[in-house]
Amino acid sequence: MFFYVTFLLFTSVLGYGNYRLRIPNGDKVPDPCNPSKIWRGVGHLGADGGGARNPFGVDFEKHGKLWTRLCKLDSDGDGMTNGEELGDPRCVWAPGMVPPKAKKISHPGICEPWNSTSCQEKNKWLSCEERKLNCHGLEDPNVRNLTLKFPQRMLVPPRETNYFCMIFDIPSDRDYHLVATQPVIDNREVVHHVLAFGCDIADNQQIPSTPYPCAMLAHPNCLEIIATWTLGSAGECANPDVGFRLGKNGYKKVALQIHWNNPQELSSLMDASGLRLYYTPILRANDAGMLVVGQDFIQLNPQPADSPSVQVTSVCAAKCTKEMFKTPIYITAAINHMHYHGISQIISLYRNGSKVRDITNDLVYSYDSPIINTFNPPIEILPGDEIRTECNYRSPTDGDPVCFGDGTQNEMCYGFITYYPIHRLLRPWCTTRRSVESCQRHLPRFQNGPIDGCHWKRFLTEGKVTILPNILQRCYNENMTTLECSDTCIQAVKMVRQHKCLNGDIGGYIVMKLRLIAAGRLFLNAVDICDCSQRLDLGYCDRRIERALIGDQKYKYCTAESQSRKYDSRQNGGNVGQVIVDELESGSKSIHNQYTVFFVVVFCILLK
Ligand SMILES: *[C@@H]1O[C@H](CO)[C@@H](O)[C@H](O)[C@H]1NC(C)=O
Ligand SMILES: *[C@@H]1O[C@H](CO)[C@@H](O)[C@H](O)[C@H]1NC(C)=O
Ligand SMILES: *[C@@H]1O[C@H](CO)[C@@H](O)[C@H](O)[C@H]1NC(C)=O
Ligand SMILES: *[C@@H]1O[C@H](CO)[C@@H](O)[C@H](O)[C@H]1NC(C)=O
Repeated sequence: MFFYVTFLLFTSVLGYGNYRLRIPNGDKVPDPCNPSKIWRGVGHLGADGGGARNPFGVDFEKHGKLWTRLCKLDSDGDGMTNGEELGDPRCVWAPGMVPPKAKKISHPGICEPWNSTSCQEKNKWLSCEERKLNCHGLEDPNVRNLTLKFPQRMLVPPRETNYFCMIFDIPSDRDYHLVATQPVIDNREVVHHVLAFGCDIADNQQIPSTPYPCAMLAHPNCLEIIATWTLGSAGECANPDVGFRLGKNGYKKVALQIHWNNPQELSSLMDASGLRLYYTPILRANDAGMLVVGQDFIQLNPQPADSPSVQVTSVCAAKCTKEMFKTPIYITAAINHMHYHGISQIISLYRNGSKVRDITNDLVYSYDSPIINTFNPPIEILPGDEIRTECNYRSPTDGDPVCFGDGTQNEMCYGFITYYPIHRLLRPWCTTRRSVESCQRHLPRFQNGPIDGCHWKRFLTEGKVTILPNILQRCYNENMTTLECSDTCIQAVKMVRQHKCLNGDIGGYIVMKLRLIAAGRLFLNAVDICDCSQRLDLGYCDRRIERALIGDQKYKYCTAESQSRKYDSRQNGGNVGQVIVDELESGSKSIHNQYTVFFVVVFCILLK
């Protein structure tokens, strides 16, 4: 349940920070359409780094990103070498040097003059018209707008990945339909995505009133994505028959989430980006909803460079759709979402075991230029249909495995599906974590049932106050500062290892949940270390702490000689009596409460 949408930049795009430093004057290339502007994505079709590669980007990739090999080429075919265009006519520049010339820089990927007869054919992909959102909804004379952005420009923290959120009030004098959204982008250098989530928050509930650091989830009560902006998009336009309901009987609050990407960890970047919502009191025929499908667990192991792609799949099962939608739903739009290891993604509709049709099919996936698939007429989905998602990835070639998550090094495999009429679901997600279906965890009908023999809910509530303390008592000293694999501890560990909730795919889910609390981490540490004969081996990505807030605490691994030794557990993120007592006593509530997790995490970080 902690895995929510994020959009991430893995810096493999020419046009972004690092890569621009590999060519001379990489940050000074003017936009031929409008020479007062900088073309940030020097190697891309989109000026802001979006889109596939332009001829210079293609050469950049082909020649190992090496300026020495690129300099003498004329990538765009306009008669000037790349070196001449970028101020290094004699090809003497190397990264870090001051370029020989800083004036009269021109674009190495666009034939210039851009509209000359000889360039027309070469620049066919170039459009010098402003990217504009074409949307019938904006023509509605009743349409109103509201700009969501932080009250003032904020300093972007000097960290690669930053998520900040803020919750806004929406006029609630009457009902409205959200019909379009447009980006309001301030600092294109850092802003990587902006999302808006609809919130179900009671009037008397305390919520932050200023921007706050958040993770993939803006707030536990804001679960439905109602607007997305990523690089290369001019905005979103709802199908003329539908809109997300805001106001009196709709969302009265909306959370804005901004992802700032700061790979160079600069401490001088500021931003004040946001989203403009367009909404109308003239209600449309249908209320829109957003369904998220896909896989919450990804592990891409390093492979030799020429290895085949790796496939990750997920099924929103018939039993889930049957329970989620009592009447047919109609899909008006769908967007694929992976990060930079993604090659291709397909979402398809199955009925009674046979394929009905594809919903999305990005044979060449590009994070930087998301394809918004729209359907008119919409695609009908019946209760009992199956929605399958398939993502294909390029494996990393070295280093650690790539895991699911919101860090720049992580991956995702999601589909965002806009449908109508809305079914107010507790969680509009039909994803899986490996084979464990989110609908089994979230839908009341399934919630109390076992998954693969594990009464997971009971384990996470009652087990937390029985099973966990039992292990902690036997394996740690009273201050929870030292793990000691005594005989009683080892015996207890051997027993708990047999538990259905610590095995199979559901075991991975439970481990993930336990890792979010200090007591859980201590428990897992003991279970993992104190009996090396049967490791709790759920894989690298089950052990990793994915959530950005928790950071990169090292998880200890079982090694042959580790047994019967004592460990200082403090460096493992969780320790010290009171937090654990509080966690264990607060029972079922806290494990589902993001804030508790948040404070425990902050507390643990402070204690480090
Ligand atoms: C090329 O564009 C410039 C500036 O936009 C314009 O003044 C000129 O007339 C155009 N030339 C052609 C051949 O279209
Ligand atoms: C937003 O609404 C205001 C009136 O409330 C209007 O003056 C302004 O032009 C609108 N902005 C856009 C971009 O439509
Ligand atoms: C699947 O087939 C059965 C029997 O032929 C039928 O009753 C059912 O409605 C079908 N399901 C869907 C979603 O069409
Ligand atoms: C545990 O706490 C007690 C009292 O707070 C203290 O005297 C003792 O030294 C601590 N033991 C360890 C191993 O830290």
